[in-house]
Formats: sequence, C-alpha cells, structure tokens
Amino acid sequence: MSSGPLLVVLVLACSLLSARCAPNRPHIVFILADDLGWNDVGFTGNSDLQTPNIDTLAYSGRILSHYYAQPTCTPSRAALLTGKYPIRTGMQGYPLSPSEPRALPLDHKTLPEYLKDLGYQTHLVGKWHLGYYDWKFTPLARGFDTHFGYMNGFVGYYDHYMNAKNMSGHDFWRGTQQQKHLKGRYMTDLLTEETERLIEAAAENENPIFLLLSHLAVHSGNPGKDHEYPEDDIKRFSYIKDENRSKYAAMVWNLDKSVGRVVKALAKNDLLDNTLIVVTSDNGAQTRGLYANDGSNYPLRGLKFTMFEGGIRTVAAVWNAQIHGQEYASLTSLFHVTDWLPTLYEAAGGDLTDLSGMDGKSQLTSIANDGENDSQYNLRSEILLNVDERLGLSGIRYKNWKYLNGSYLNGSYEDHFGDYRNELYTYSMADLAKSEVAKDLKTKFPSLPVNNKAHVSEIRRENTIQCDKKDVRSKCNLVEGPCLFNLHLDPCEQENLYSEEQDIAIILQAKLDTYRSQITPQLNTVDDPAGNPKLHNDSWMPWRGGSICRRDQCPRSAATTFFSSKLCFAGVIGIF
Ligand SMILES: *[C@@H]1O[C@H](CO)[C@@H](O)[C@H](O)[C@H]1NC(C)=O
Ligand SMILES: *[C@@H]1O[C@H](CO)[C@@H](O)[C@H](O)[C@H]1NC(C)=O
Ligand SMILES: *[C@@H]1O[C@H](CO)[C@@H](O)[C@H](O)[C@H]1NC(C)=O
Ligand SMILES: *[C@@H]1O[C@H](CO)[C@@H](O)[C@H](O)[C@H]1NC(C)=O
Ligand SMILES: *[C@@H]1O[C@H](CO)[C@@H](O)[C@H](O)[C@H]1NC(C)=O
Ligand SMILES: *[C@@H]1O[C@H](CO)[C@@H](O)[C@H](O)[C@H]1NC(C)=O
Repeated sequence: MSSGPLLVVLVLACSLLSARCAPNRPHIVFILADDLGWNDVGFTGNSDLQTPNIDTLAYSGRILSHYYAQPTCTPSRAALLTGKYPIRTGMQGYPLSPSEPRALPLDHKTLPEYLKDLGYQTHLVGKWHLGYYDWKFTPLARGFDTHFGYMNGFVGYYDHYMNAKNMSGHDFWRGTQQQKHLKGRYMTDLLTEETERLIEAAAENENPIFLLLSHLAVHSGNPGKDHEYPEDDIKRFSYIKDENRSKYAAMVWNLDKSVGRVVKALAKNDLLDNTLIVVTSDNGAQTRGLYANDGSNYPLRGLKFTMFEGGIRTVAAVWNAQIHGQEYASLTSLFHVTDWLPTLYEAAGGDLTDLSGMDGKSQLTSIANDGENDSQYNLRSEILLNVDERLGLSGIRYKNWKYLNGSYLNGSYEDHFGDYRNELYTYSMADLAKSEVAKDLKTKFPSLPVNNKAHVSEIRRENTIQCDKKDVRSKCNLVEGPCLFNLHLDPCEQENLYSEEQDIAIILQAKLDTYRSQITPQLNTVDDPAGNPKLHNDSWMPWRGGSICRRDQCPRSAATTFFSSKLCFAGVIGIF
C-alpha cells in the first residue's frame, strides 16, 4: 500500500487552510459590520452589550487583535475589494455622497473577480458604497454574481430610504430590480434571510461561494431615526441607563443574532467544516457627531473619520474548522484590511504570483499558525493609515510607532469617547453556551472544546486594552501640530512623543512623503443634481444609465473616447 505515505506527504505539503491541493475549496463568508466599535463586542472586554454569537466564534477561531481598517467606509471597502491602499485608487477622500458622480475606477480588479477566476460564485448582500452613477460601476459589473442590498452609505432600517441634505430616495435592489415591496421589514433580518437562502443554494451547487454580508448594522439610520431596532428587543437592555446606548445595544444584538443564524445555516446545510468565516467592521464607531450611532471605541482614542486608534483599529475574527482545533485564539501581529484579498485568494487555492500591485500581503500562514510564535509570522512592519491630501490628513504606523499629521473638524472627534463602564452587565459563560453558534459548533465538532472558561477569560483579558499611561508629559493636539505615539507602551495615544523622539518622527515623515509622491489624486467631486431621486421615480439609481458590462469590455464614456481619439490622432501625426 503506497497511498498512506503519499497522503501524509500531501497533507504536509498543503498549508493548513490552503485549498491548493485540497479538493474542497472553502466557502468564504465575510461578515462586515458597519461602524461597529472596538468596545462593542464582548471579546475585547466590553461589559454592557451582549454579543454571545460573535464572541463564541471569535474564541473558537482566531481574533486579529491588531487589525487595522481605514477611517471611513468608502476607503475601507475600496481597500478590502482591491487589496490596495486607497491612495492607489483615488478613493482616499471623504465617503461617497449619494449623487456624487464617482466610483471605484474600472482599472482595478476586485476580490470577487479574482475569486470568480477560481470558480467561485460571488454574492454581495447589503451595502455597496463604491459608486453607482453608471450601471457599469455597480456590484453586478464589479465581480458579484448577485446583489441584494443598497448602493449608498446607509438607508433607513425599515423604510430603506436614504435622506441626504435636501434629497430623499429609496435604495434597495435585487440586481437591477427595486425592492420597494420590502418596505417595513427590518434590514438586518432581510439581509440575513437572503444569506440563508444563498447558503442553502450553495449546498446544492458544485462551486464554492464567496459571500460578502455587508450589514447596515450598526450604522445610524436617517437623522431623527438614528436608532432602529425591533421594539421587543429593547427590554433586554433596560439595565443600560443611557437611553441611546440601550437602543444601540438592541441593534448590536440583532447583528449578533444574524451571525448566529448564518452559522446555523452553514451547519444545517453541512457546509460548516468547509467554510472560512470572517467577522469584522469597516471602521470604528461614531459615538457622536455626524451619523452618531452611540457605539464605542473606548478606551481607544478617537472616532470614525480619524486615524486615531478608535477610528481604525477594528474588531476582527476568523473562524474555520482547522483553527477551531487549535489552542490559541489571538493573532497579535499587524493585519491590514488590504491583506484580505491575497489571504482569501490563497485560501481559495489561488496562486499569489497572479496578484500584482497589491499593498496587501497574504496572512494565511499567520492565521493558520498555532499562535505560539506570532512574531515569526509578522509580515507587516508598516501600514499606511491614509493620506487625505485635500483635508490635509495623513498617518502611518511603523513597528510600534505611529505618526499623525492634520486634524479633522478642529479635533472634535479626537478625544476618548464612549466610556460606558458604569452600564454593567455580567459577562457570563452561560450566555455564551446558550448562543446559536455554541450549539452549532458543539453539535458539529463534538470532540472540540467550545468556550472553555479559562481560555475565554485569558483571551478576553489579553484583548482588553488598559490605558495606564502615567506621568504624561505632552498631550497630542493635532490642531497644533503632528503627533507621535509609541503604541506598544501607549495604545490609547495619551502621550505625544513628537518633540522627544524627533529622529523617529523624521523617519515616519519620510515614509509618508514617499507615499505622498505616489498618490493617485482623490476623485471626490461635487454632487450631480441629475442624481436627485425626484427625477428617478423616488429612487437613488444609476442616473447616467449605462449597462452592466465586464470591466474591460464596457463602452468607453464620451469623454474618454474623445480623449483617446485625440491621442490616436497625435500618434498618427507623429508617425508621418
Ligand atoms: C439642495 O440644497 C443646495 C444648497 O445647499 C442647493 O444648491 C440645491 O439646489 C438643493 N437641491 C434641491 C433638489 O433642492
Ligand atoms: C440621544 O440621541 C438623541 C438624538 O441623536 C439626542 O438628541 C440626545 O441628546 C441623546 N441623548 C443622550 C442622553 O445623549
Ligand atoms: C516557537 O519558537 C520557539 C523558539 O524559536 C521554538 O522552540 C518552538 O518550537 C516554536 N513553536 C512552534 C509551535 O513552532
Ligand atoms: C503636515 O501636513 C501638512 C498638510 O498636508 C503639510 O503641509 C506639512 O508639511 C505636514 N507636516 C509635516 C511635519 O510633515
Ligand atoms: C479649535 O479647537 C481649539 C482647541 O483645540 C479651540 O481653542 C478653537 O477655538 C477651536 N476653533 C474653532 C474654529 O472651533
Ligand atoms: C416607479 O416605482 C413604482 C413602485 O413604487 C413602480 O411600480 C414603477 O414601475 C416605477 N416606474 C418606473 C418607471 O421605474
């Protein structure tokens, strides 16, 4: 019998999660919350909300404890889908406004396009927010086989309208079909039901799926209806005295329930042992200010829109059956949102040499390692946090150091917000055990532990950030000048070392200047009055028409055609 040793060799040659030589490419279910803060899940030490499903998945999987996204949603989603820093795509500026004629440029291939090359079926459920003024920029033209959701940054949870300044319109689609008949249904439920349907269909299909469940939760709703949740769910949170926070808790509870339902659907359809699940958020919470949701990044400093840790250090966890079998739950090395594309491509069996021009690095081996020697898998010493050349904001992380230059809204989002430590709920193993995820994992993997108490306490303690900086000599005020932090000693950014550590500040400034010299100018532009829903049957829709076409086959716009015919003419003259 020679198959024994051969099998052993094959198994050893294949990395833990890679599908390259495994017959079963994994399904990938990527659950992306919107504006969920660092302090809004239990596994980072929160003690007022309840997220037993997310927590159980995280404790059984791998928590990315130094995961960084972009400070706002459009740049973050552009980075996720391209594997490139937003300064490469022109998407580094302010989030896309609803009638702004701007979109992720067609010269960038997206994650779902790459996965389609590997035979995946690709689904976007929920938010897009990467542009829709022409159909050629919409999800179905950018690599997704199906889209059920909305084009803008957010909509009302029940009416599915987006109100922006003096305009208002409906925005909920199945592909190119408006879904006005769904008015009145809670968005978190609708997106979850669609995900359940797609998972059930995947069980009947040969091809693996990539499903991006891009939740509205827990973004604020329209002004005046900031918090929307099923009425019954508020009772559970009567212990929270801050009324807005208790409403937010009900929204987070529904997001958590959704994670439970997704895992249940995977278990029911027997897909759980061949699925890679990611749960994360696009950026930090917006405790106050524009579209405040009363989420919290505490004790991290700063809100969404800022490059302080609260804006960009984001909760993230990965689960699959192999990781579940391991003892360690936290990956402490740096991981950036651009890393998902190469990581997932490799997990799907793709060859990394197919990818070019990426800022992201595949972290598959980091995720798959047993956690003991994370430093050996430290693939990143540097993250460009962002450069917004119009607002004059820039930031970079290098090793333990972080350098920031430029303040947003005169510093009004740059404090420590969202201290809800008085709104106490007793974190309990019983709550975790009762969660849907715990039940499913126990049933499917009876030999593996779920929520061992000592393990949970240790992981939770490890991921709870302490702000114990004493004797702060100089505070950071970006209105007055650049700041430098040693995040290793000062994760809450209390002490500005800019004057004291000039040699290091100069190194980081020089690195930033290099990125600045490579910048693709941001594409942000003025709103187009022609996008007003009043002109389009009450809907936000691709107001300049166009068609759903493949990126490289779309008809050129009049302006591009004119430009290239000029070039061609000049070329002809040159030759003669
Ligand atoms: C909305 O308000 C802006 C000024 O803030 C104005 O220029 C624009 O015409 C208004 N649009 C509509 C549809 O009323
Ligand atoms: C709750 O939110 C509403 C609406 O944003 C705001 O007017 C109110 O002041 C908030 N209440 C508290 C206690 O912060
Ligand atoms: C971790 O690194 C140490 C020191 O290099 C080594 O002795 C140990 O075997 C490593 N553990 C694993 C699981 O690789
Ligand atoms: C900070 O940013 C501003 C605006 O982008 C720039 O003019 C200035 O040179 C930067 N400061 C340093 C020290 O790099
Ligand atoms: C900006 O913030 C500073 C404090 O950092 C304050 O003194 C100043 O008045 C503020 N300016 C404006 C225009 O709000
Ligand atoms: C406008 O919307 C209504 C539903 O509100 C729909 O019945 C009708 O077909 C739409 N008209 C066009 C031209 O899209």
